[in-house]
Amino acid sequence: MGWPSMPDTDTATSAAQTALDHLWMHNRSWAADAELGGPRVITEGQGIRVTDSRGRSWIDVNGGYMCVNIGYGRRELAHAMREQMERLVYFPQGATTEPLVDLAAKLAQITPGDLERSWPVTGGSEANETAIKIARAYHKRRGEPGRYKIISRLRSYHGALGATMWLGGEGGREDYEPAPPGMIYAPHPDDYNSGVPDDTPSRCAVRSAQAIERLIEFHGASSVAAVIAEPVSSSAGAAVPGDEYWPMLRQICDRYSVALIADEVITGFGRTGTMFAMEHWNVTPDIMTMAKGITSSYLPLANAIVSPRIADVFAGSDNIFRQALTFGGHPVTAAVALRNIEIIESERLVENSRVVGAHLLGRLTALAEDHPIIGHVRGLGLLIGMEMVADRDTRARFPKDIQLGRRLRLAFESEGLILSPGDERITIGPPLCITTEEADELTAKLDRAIAKVERDLRR
Ligand SMILES: Cc1ncc(COP(=O)(O)O)c(C=O)c1O
Repeated sequence: MGWPSMPDTDTATSAAQTALDHLWMHNRSWAADAELGGPRVITEGQGIRVTDSRGRSWIDVNGGYMCVNIGYGRRELAHAMREQMERLVYFPQGATTEPLVDLAAKLAQITPGDLERSWPVTGGSEANETAIKIARAYHKRRGEPGRYKIISRLRSYHGALGATMWLGGEGGREDYEPAPPGMIYAPHPDDYNSGVPDDTPSRCAVRSAQAIERLIEFHGASSVAAVIAEPVSSSAGAAVPGDEYWPMLRQICDRYSVALIADEVITGFGRTGTMFAMEHWNVTPDIMTMAKGITSSYLPLANAIVSPRIADVFAGSDNIFRQALTFGGHPVTAAVALRNIEIIESERLVENSRVVGAHLLGRLTALAEDHPIIGHVRGLGLLIGMEMVADRDTRARFPKDIQLGRRLRLAFESEGLILSPGDERITIGPPLCITTEEADELTAKLDRAIAKVERDLRR
């Protein structure tokens, strides 16, 4: 079975078949995809829209994995890439290159506080692996070798590699056990899902920060290297912590000499209506990681930017941070990042994220009045979460066998939306170039799709 509305061209069928035969796709089953006639193959993109190999146009609601911040089809980035490739395609870190140096300076300028030294890598997981290694090595170099434990929050996501896959999460990692030692899990500051009667963002923020302090004390501060957290977590449905949370985390980390790592892999580069989300709370972490929006995903680049308090411990010539990654800091990716940041700034996309984000949040909140399965809507800028419930009063979720996420995805597809919700929430993070009219178009499509699912559920 294919997509009935689509002209079934030979090329489309052949690309889908080749994918079924040879490609191991992220989080997908090729057996299940085969029943659908093969995976969707995307061939073009412009703004917030993409076209597939059968010629159908879609709104890519989350711009890839919330990463195509400036939108698809910007030739300026292709030109920047080509220019740098023709001049110098690569040189490893034993020497360095002009675009990378310029990018490091630019990042020092636009990140909060005294974050000033960049360790470039190729993806968000690598950036967080690097941040953890730097935090652990920092404590060893300054004479506290016992600090190796990392505190992360349940339901957060920090990556899929060696150590990062054990940070945050909600389980489902049995295949990869044993877990590395020293992983400590704290509660997420999400008042809607805390289970505490009459909870508020503020009370939940204070409680959740205090829980981290208690964990540090319980495990012994002399064994804890770092706390890692996203300013606003996409994987936890864009729960925005109460304003107390981040300043308290900063104070707690200072009190116990624990490094504070802010994972801005999703929130960086305008997603929440400020260039970096930590600006909302005026808090500077010791290390900040970034990826995705740094190049709007036109090329793979990520980074861990570090404060001098941590970085300077590695300054001595016999004291260097030992890590080399072949593609980390690739000059072509750096040239693209610089041009991408220029576009974000000159087209005021951070402001657009704030303004259109507030508009979309308002429209989606209004949708909840007509749709009883929307329990709660929250978010910041263009990072918005909708909590889906079977009963709004009790906040009970639908039983797993209802497969709410699958039903919603199919209904979204019938409206021309690429958007994969879970069974409990829909998280929305479109490209930052989205206009108010496009946000309204998206809302109307979500409205119809959710109404269809509700009708089906009533039957
Ligand atoms: C907050 C956060 N951190 C880290 C990562 C991992 O990034 P990557 O997929 O580039 O390895 C992601 C990916 O979605 C993320 O959302």
